[in-house]
Amino acid sequence: MAKTYAIAIDGPAGAGKSTMAKALAKELGYHYVDTGALYRTVAYFMDLLGVSPKDADGVERYIDELNVVIEYDEEGKQHMLMNGMDVTGEIRTQDISQKASLISAHPVVREALLDMQREVARNHNVIMDGRDIGTVVLPKADVKIFLTASAEVRAQRRCDELNAKGQKSQFEQVLKEIQQRDYQDTHREIAPLKMARDSVKLDTSDLDIDGVIAAMKKIIGEKIPL
Ligand code: DC
Repeated sequence: MAKTYAIAIDGPAGAGKSTMAKALAKELGYHYVDTGALYRTVAYFMDLLGVSPKDADGVERYIDELNVVIEYDEEGKQHMLMNGMDVTGEIRTQDISQKASLISAHPVVREALLDMQREVARNHNVIMDGRDIGTVVLPKADVKIFLTASAEVRAQRRCDELNAKGQKSQFEQVLKEIQQRDYQDTHREIAPLKMARDSVKLDTSDLDIDGVIAAMKKIIGEKIPL
């Protein structure tokens, strides 16, 4: 089989990982894999069952009842199937963001999702975004980028996004939620959010989308043929 290339994009919530990875995947003809959507699907499933994301025993008891599948439509958009049901839209709420962050700390959850992520990368050129892609999921990725921005900038971007969708949001509240997720995602015992040793850090606080894309293409182009 021909060599497949893997680009790992890690970083905290709201750093712009999915926006940038999606745009680059389109340009390069790569598969974009949003791994946060996997944890969100688990969180949504447990929520429907009334299992608290902090309840380790409950999560362990029901995780085997869940079948998570990633599918792509003709436009290349990723869809999440939860036991056959498309929940792509349902998992994108602030409530599920927080629950996904808590649920992702359970070893049984991370284990259940690990092979699936590696399998996609075995068969396709991928740009995969998450928290532990460069450190755990694809430690041999050809390119690793750690995308970050100050918590204030990330909160402001999230507010703008919510406002554009007509959802009223309060900067202070969004900032608090981002800081809480940063804490949870960096302090869990298994596969915490951290920069891989061979990762390139890109702070996007003072860059616009085009600036970030250009910087990322430069980093990628130094490692793999574009
Ligand atoms: O990227 P996101 O905001 O959709 O991710 C939701 C949560 O899932 C995030 O707060 C932590 C968890 N997550 C993870 O632990 N590992 C990943 N590779 C991706 C997400």
